[in-house]
Amino acid sequence: MKKINIAIDGFSSCGKSTIAKALAKALNYIFIDTGAMYRAVTLYFLDHQIPLDDPQAVSNALRQMQIQFERDARGRQRTILNGRDVEDEIRSMRVARAVSQVAAIPAVRRAMVHQQQNMAKNKGVVMDGRDIGTVVLPDAELKLFITARPEVRTQRRYRELLEKGLSISPEEVAENLAQRDYIDSHREDSPLRRAEDAILLDTSDLSREEQVQKALKLVEKLGIKPENTAS
Ligand code: DC
Repeated sequence: MKKINIAIDGFSSCGKSTIAKALAKALNYIFIDTGAMYRAVTLYFLDHQIPLDDPQAVSNALRQMQIQFERDARGRQRTILNGRDVEDEIRSMRVARAVSQVAAIPAVRRAMVHQQQNMAKNKGVVMDGRDIGTVVLPDAELKLFITARPEVRTQRRYRELLEKGLSISPEEVAENLAQRDYIDSHREDSPLRRAEDAILLDTSDLSREEQVQKALKLVEKLGIKPENTAS
């Protein structure tokens, strides 16, 4: 059966991973959360106090790191760093505050892009991130660029963090999102931008179900049939 690669890019908390996970499930494809990879690198750098301005220390550290994805008993994807489940730690504010600086380092990007391209070489991958349609998978058969209004994104992230029991104000969430947006879209190496052939999808006024249905319609237009239900 024909398999394609799907690239999903956009700012933080626009609904990228919701759509990506649901598409992967419906199509029986592999979901790759590239933000989790940059977060895992950031956690390692923080824990080992790697100076970000020391290229030798950065490249040595990158060689020490192995990042994988596994599923837990409930079928949820977990990020594994050097054999340890770091899924919860990489979602902390400590990592969120530092990740954009780490993701702007060219050596970090080169190492991650190389791994991501390897993961996608046999097709059948849904990958979400910032540079997937432009740099990692420029030949992806379907590219989506997801947006949402800033206040909607803040609310979504705030609720997510509250559910995890983190105490944080909506103002802090809004500030972190704005800061990351700025760094992610202004860095020199592969800044976040919409690929020319990416389809724009604004999720502000769409339910989760509506977002997924819209994305699935675009997949079906390419002659790909879902194997499972998306939800
Ligand atoms: O999607 P996320 O919020 O988990 O991503 C965390 C950070 O990683 C984000 O602020 C920018 C960076 N990132 C990146 O530079 N390139 C990617 N392909 C994915 C994420």
